[in-house]
Amino acid sequence: MNEQKGSKVILITGGAGFIGSHLAEALIHQNERIVIVDSINNYYDPRRKEENLAFIRQKANVVICQQDITDYDAMEDIVRKNRVTHIVHLAARAGVRASINNPQVYVDDNIIGTLVILELCRKHDIKHLIVASSSSIYGTNTKVPFSETDIVENIISPYGVTKRACELYSYCYHRLYGFPITCLRFFTVYGPRGRPDMMVYKFTKAILESTPIQVFGEGTTQRDYTFVTDIVEGIIAALNTPMKFEIINLGNSSPVELRRIITILEELLGKKAIQEHHPLPPGDVSVTYADISKAQRLLGYKPKIKIGEGLARFVAWYHQQEASK
Ligand SMILES: NC(=O)c1ccc[n+]([C@@H]2O[C@H](COP(=O)([O-])OP(=O)(O)OC[C@H]3O[C@@H](n4cnc5c(N)ncnc54)[C@H](O)[C@@H]3O)[C@@H](O)[C@H]2O)c1
Repeated sequence: MNEQKGSKVILITGGAGFIGSHLAEALIHQNERIVIVDSINNYYDPRRKEENLAFIRQKANVVICQQDITDYDAMEDIVRKNRVTHIVHLAARAGVRASINNPQVYVDDNIIGTLVILELCRKHDIKHLIVASSSSIYGTNTKVPFSETDIVENIISPYGVTKRACELYSYCYHRLYGFPITCLRFFTVYGPRGRPDMMVYKFTKAILESTPIQVFGEGTTQRDYTFVTDIVEGIIAALNTPMKFEIINLGNSSPVELRRIITILEELLGKKAIQEHHPLPPGDVSVTYADISKAQRLLGYKPKIKIGEGLARFVAWYHQQEASK
């Protein structure tokens, strides 16, 4: 085993999830010591999260705790026992549409959960906290690309509201207690192990199974799809960059229309989609588009994976996991 780096111990909340498991894997390759906390909730099939952890479990110097972050005492125990120095806080209820049907759990997991993490940071001298935020906080803003300095008063989903609340609490705690916090606004992350409630996964499955895909609007809605390894590079760069308090967009800065995603998937899967058109559901916005100049300037962030390559990697993973069932 390679030598471990310094005395840094990085706690990843939500480390069994899509982005968290990729981050954990990348940090393991960099010989960082990590602690994963995840409740392995049933927002989607918990077996997927166990599969996400399969590679990680084989590694030394990784601690995995199945734990709800809203339990302060249990979290304090984990932080103390493992001498955690840095936290990447990804645990959350994600998903815009589900937040409309069940807003309370979003308050519990996202807002109360973040408050617990902030309290732990102030009491345990955490050197740097990274908080996952989201492009949904830009809501129905029409000026593109979305910049961190834009006013964000037009949020149209309970999920987006909880993410903004987490940013506001983070700023407040930074001002009150001085520890460094970086909030990263992720833009539509996709890639292997992607969440099954997300469009890329749902459409791939439906096309292969010859069931209809639900196309909202005319297929002209645009998302700034960002490949998961680019997001992970941005998170690690933030973790390693001394900061006071910053909010930073992590996107691809290259929005793609839904109908183009469908065409690329059809080509990759060698099959036509059966399309059903519906009006845009409440909570959904028509465009997301990140201004990433701040991430470039502060973090040297430069997304590398273009949509065609990213979707091809996703489809390869999808086939592989289907074959192993
Ligand atoms: N995937 C995206 O496109 C995207 C975009 C913007 C922001 N984000 C944010 O990035 C983070 C990771 O998202 P993801 O796509 O990997 O989602 P995910 O659902 O795959 O991962 C989140 C993980 O957090 C865990 N979790 C939830 N509540 C918890 C709690 N109370 N205690 C402990 N663990 C808990 C879940 O079990 C899950 O494994 C989230 O904060 C999400 O809001 C994601």
